[in-house]
Amino acid sequence: MSMQKKTLSLIIGGLLAATMSVTVSAKTVLKLSHNNDKTHPVHMSMQYMSDEVKKLTDGEVVIRIYPNSQLGTQRESMELLQSGSLDMAKSNASELEAFEPTYAAFNVPYLFKNSDHYYKVLQDADVGQKILSNSAGKGFIGLTYYDAGSRSFYAQKPIRTPEDLKGMKIRVQPSPSALEMMKLLGASPTPLAFGELYTALQQGVVDGAENNPTALTLMRHGEVAKFYSEDEHTIIPDVLVISEKTWAKLSPEQQKALKEAADKSMMYHKDLWIEMTAKEVKEAKEKLGVEFVKVEKQPFIDAVKPMHDKAKADAVIGSYIEKIDALGN
Ligand code: GCU
Repeated sequence: MSMQKKTLSLIIGGLLAATMSVTVSAKTVLKLSHNNDKTHPVHMSMQYMSDEVKKLTDGEVVIRIYPNSQLGTQRESMELLQSGSLDMAKSNASELEAFEPTYAAFNVPYLFKNSDHYYKVLQDADVGQKILSNSAGKGFIGLTYYDAGSRSFYAQKPIRTPEDLKGMKIRVQPSPSALEMMKLLGASPTPLAFGELYTALQQGVVDGAENNPTALTLMRHGEVAKFYSEDEHTIIPDVLVISEKTWAKLSPEQQKALKEAADKSMMYHKDLWIEMTAKEVKEAKEKLGVEFVKVEKQPFIDAVKPMHDKAKADAVIGSYIEKIDALGN
């Protein structure tokens, strides 16, 4: 190789190394905490979102997902997020009510008519998307929703009417709406973090709980609660949120890419949820011997009606409830 060529290749090599080190140092790694298992559809949809962000930003933004409450409960994650010690978290509209009161609009029982109505509400600029942005100034903002199905009761006995709940200690998510609903249904509500529930059920600290059917298999609750009674009282979405401090560090292009990836993952999740729920229900029945009990919903609907009426007149969520009702017509 001539001297000139050698010099040239050295220069090119140096330039390449410089570009690479710039790329490496410009990489932003965001930590995302959540409380589900790696095999849970919400984890998979967030993994899809993370892959999309990487693609859209040419590898500049990388999201690292920490499942199974490794970085703390949903509440702890929200507190870390507000202080800027954590970048992102997946929570739930029920739990988020304590951090941004308009999320309570999702926690009113028997609110959504069907899946179309639900998705219309989540995507509506004045309802779902507005609620995601309402927490600006409180340390976090919402990016998107993930379908978390409908919630029903499960215990060691079937729950066919609200009377069956009398005297039962039922675990609820730490949210004022959940407490109110459970009292109207006649149960005695016990707020607990999701990760503590298996032991609480096993040791009889609570007599039952309520969730979508994936909790039976993916959290193993079906090992200790053999009846799943399908009253479907609420449909409460999971919510992907980001710390405002982290958001402010991203360039406008990166922010746009993140929102786009988040929106795409919500639709990816829509189909995945249906597919995975059917699979988990089958497993709960066949592997864990859980009995799925059909329930006449009207007595439950009647018992919680005061909550709907109260929510409609509420200063904070009343206007959202009216819009949600209107979107269902
Ligand atoms: C759902 C939801 C979780 C939530 C859990 C709970 O499974 O996906 O985000 O924590 O309910 O009841 O706490």
